[in-house]
Amino acid sequence: MARDKNIIIIKHYGRIVDRLFFRSEEVRTILIASAFHKEGRTTTAQGLAFASAILRPSKQILLVDADFRNPSLHCILSRKERPGLLDLIGGDVNEASDCYQRSELPNLTVMTAGGTSGGEVTGLFRGEAVMGCLQNAKERFDLAFYDSPPVREYLDALYLSRIVDTVLMVVRPKISRLDEVISARNDIHHAGGKVIGLIMNDFRNPIPSFLAKHL
Ligand SMILES: Nc1ncnc2c1ncn2[C@@H]1O[C@H](COP(=O)(O)OP(=O)(O)OP(=O)(O)O)[C@@H](O)[C@H]1O
Ligand SMILES: [Mg+2]
Repeated sequence: MARDKNIIIIKHYGRIVDRLFFRSEEVRTILIASAFHKEGRTTTAQGLAFASAILRPSKQILLVDADFRNPSLHCILSRKERPGLLDLIGGDVNEASDCYQRSELPNLTVMTAGGTSGGEVTGLFRGEAVMGCLQNAKERFDLAFYDSPPVREYLDALYLSRIVDTVLMVVRPKISRLDEVISARNDIHHAGGKVIGLIMNDFRNPIPSFLAKHL
């Protein structure tokens, strides 16, 4: 079962991971973004993180849930909800390492979204704490993937796009609208982010639903 799962993950994400490692000098922190809901950001962030960890066992991989609007990694991966990114950048936790949790793969670390700040969260992405968090990730991990809320709904991903090395945009042909995808990409560019690629999710070969939900 685990072997079948790995084969499916590598089939879907292996080539993208190879390309990311090819550019790993310049690309270490990667934001997974999309225009709207349900386009597959979480599925893609997980798929890339798992494929990276499977294909490069000597590399350390980090998967971060930076979607405070719809945090889901803790449920999907059965990790504890807190402390996570929001606890860290909100100041409830001092050390990033307190928020790192193990996964089922020895070289894949997970950071959940953490607790709600009770206030406006977009502003937290502008603060120094989030920069420190990204810096820590760069020092400790070879690749870090950040799940995020939809670009056309919230500013969170735009602020994050400025401080990560690069952005991968997810497009789901069955539901994505071309004009909104283009607008989201332009929004990221105007915010100072760099989109290095679009990932077509659920195009011809949907991931089996048992796996898409529990990657
Ligand atoms: N390639 C795929 N094949 C099959 N199912 C998929 C695929 N991609 C996503 N799904 C399913 O579609 C739903 C939405 O996917 P996902 O949660 O990854 O999107 P999202 O962009 O993170 O959504 P949200 O805006 O709710 O955070 C999930 O039930 C997921 O299992
Ligand atoms: Mg999601």
